[in-house]
Amino acid sequence: MKITDVLRAEHAVFHDLFDHIEAAVPRLKTLAEVKALAAVVEAVHEPHARTEDDLFMEPLEHCFDQLGQNELFHEEHRHIEEALAKARQAKTVREAKQILLGAMAASREHFDKEERIVFPLAERVLKAKTLSELGKAWLKRREMNDE
Ligand SMILES: [Fe+2]
Ligand SMILES: [Fe+2]
Repeated sequence: MKITDVLRAEHAVFHDLFDHIEAAVPRLKTLAEVKALAAVVEAVHEPHARTEDDLFMEPLEHCFDQLGQNELFHEEHRHIEEALAKARQAKTVREAKQILLGAMAASREHFDKEERIVFPLAERVLKAKTLSELGKAWLKRREMNDE
């Protein structure tokens, strides 16, 4: 499977997760519940972002450099991670909700940009063989994580 299809499939799960969190957060009563949701997003976003950073952004680096976007994508991953960590350190329910919903909005924007710009760019620039080799590399990383 092409790495771009793998990442799109992962994105589909994230979209469901973001929908759920945006619907659930306003109804939550305790700080612990909000923090637990932030921790879930953090746990699933981390390996996704590392896959993109390591497997995907690297072979595309020269294109991003040309677009002046290279640092931007790494920075957006960092930004999302920092926002989620901040939600877990919040002192009040209100603050935690605000930070978590802000992180969801930033994530949606970032995911959307990848789907509209980065994945199609990768499919234009990289060979089909490279895309499927990167897909295999993804599978290998996943298997190693499960051990
Ligand atoms: Fe990303
Ligand atoms: Fe992504």
